Amino acid sequence: MKRVAIYPGSFDPVTNGHIDIVRRGRTLFDEIIVAILHNPGKKGLFSIDERMLMLKESMKGISGISFDTFDGLLVDYANQSGANAILRGMRAVSDFEYEFQMALMNRKLNRHIQTVFLMTGLRWIFTSSSIIKEAAQFGGDVSDMVPPIVNRNIIQKYKSKNKSE
Ligand code: PNS
Repeated sequence: MKRVAIYPGSFDPVTNGHIDIVRRGRTLFDEIIVAILHNPGKKGLFSIDERMLMLKESMKGISGISFDTFDGLLVDYANQSGANAILRGMRAVSDFEYEFQMALMNRKLNRHIQTVFLMTGLRWIFTSSSIIKEAAQFGGDVSDMVPPIVNRNIIQKYKSKNKSE
């Protein structure tokens, strides 16, 4: 049986921590579907198309992965996609409660889909999309935390945002 996992997230934008999880996840799963949550009620910094482009570009060297978007319940999407696992990265203790709640709810909703956590690489323990946006917004250098395409795009995004405000 092919082992397929969904790696879901907002990916607004993708970070080196996400890439690390996918790389290592591939040692456990034959295929990983990297899926962006499409939540019309939540406006991110980057559009879904922009996020997708950056994801594809920054993971283009990794085999056995595909990309998609989803809305609604994650377990329903996983089921429709033929996946029986959800892959999530876990950083510091601060991630634990949210991830624990989500994993338990997902398990309640569908007992056949397992959540698998990988500890993030030590290098990326404090890397998150939101902290990167916070720093980049005020001109902070985040180039060693994100792929080059994200670094370029985030600088550009805040430049044009600051101009229009
Ligand atoms: O990168 P994020 O924002 O931490 O990812 C969160 C995500 C997309 C995994 C989560 O919000 C999600 O799965 N949303 C879909 C709705 C759902 O099924 N929620 C879990 C049960 S409460």
